[in-house]
Parts: sequence; structure tokens; C-alpha cells
Amino acid sequence: MLKRANEFYVEGQEISIDLTDKGLGQLTRKEEHLKNLKFGLAKAEKLPFDENSQDLIVSSFLIDRLDDPRKGLEEMFRVLKPTGKCIVVSPLNFKKKEHWELYYPASQLSDVLKDIGFEILDWQEDIVVEEPLDGRENFVGWRCLGFVVGK
Ligand SMILES: C[S@@+](CC[C@H](N)C(=O)[O-])C[C@H]1O[C@@H](n2cnc3c(N)ncnc32)[C@H](O)[C@@H]1O
Repeated sequence: MLKRANEFYVEGQEISIDLTDKGLGQLTRKEEHLKNLKFGLAKAEKLPFDENSQDLIVSSFLIDRLDDPRKGLEEMFRVLKPTGKCIVVSPLNFKKKEHWELYYPASQLSDVLKDIGFEILDWQEDIVVEEPLDGRENFVGWRCLGFVVGK
């Protein structure tokens, strides 16, 4: 996926995806060439950045997938600049029983964020993200929490 994203956004290649088996036809798009964009791969629990180095961190549909969500959040805190912002969106569809106990309801997650040291700047529950399934407009609706935090 990173290779394809690089071809599409950085190299400006046309992308063509066959979605006829989902009733969605052939999707073809050409993106503009974005020269200042780089893709990388790393573990969320071990980001390849220095402390206090990042202006903006955006995490989408990730924290509930981690084996240790708190470790991932602590790592975001470590690399975020004191003036930086971190934006997280997650359906909180946790994988493990202990994660439900530790981070649900969302007020518990808010306590964890404050315990790590984050300041909560914005907080919205009930953001519904629709994931299309097919050409009949069937979809999965993910009820998400979205928040913005700083240091
Ligand atoms: C539900 S997908 C979300 C993908 C994308 N961020 C989005 O919003 O469409 C979860 C992604 O998290 C990645 N992931 C799972 N554990 C991870 C970890 N420990 N560190 C970094 N990425 C991880 C998976 O490989 C997968 O690509």
C-alpha cells in the first residue's frame, strides 16, 4: 500500500483499481505530484523521530488495533513538540477484554490521556465514518471518537 501510495501521490502515476466484483466498476484517478511528501513504515510504539520533534501527528483507526494502546499514545506524546497537536480518530473497537476495561467508556481514555500528560483541546464522540461495501451503497458505519490533544 505504501508503494502504491508513493506511486500515486509522489510520482504522480495514474492509479486503476478493479472494483467490478463489488459492483463499483473500474476506478481510475491521477493525482498531482506532491514533491514534499514522504511515506515511511514504523511501529506506532517505536516511532523513528526525536523527542519534541513533530508539529502534527494524525492517527486514524489505529489505537484500538495496537497490542498496547497506552504505549502508542505515550510514543505520540514523546515525539510531539510542546507547541504541536495530535489528532486521533478511532472507533474504539478494541481487540482485547483488558483494553475495554482500561479505555472504555471514552471518559476512561480521557483520564489515560491526561495521565500521560496530554491536554485535551477538542473532543467529539459519535462521529460516524461510513465504509462503503459495494455498488448497492451497503456500508459499515463506524461510530468513532475524535480528539485533538496537545502538551
Ligand atoms: C484499520 S487500519 C487503518 C488504516 C488507515 N490508518 C485508515 O484510517 O484507513 C489499521 C492499520 O494499523 C496498522 N497497525 C496495526 N498495528 C500497528 C502498529 N503496532 N504500529 C503501526 N501500525 C499498526 C495496520 O497495519 C493497519 O494498516
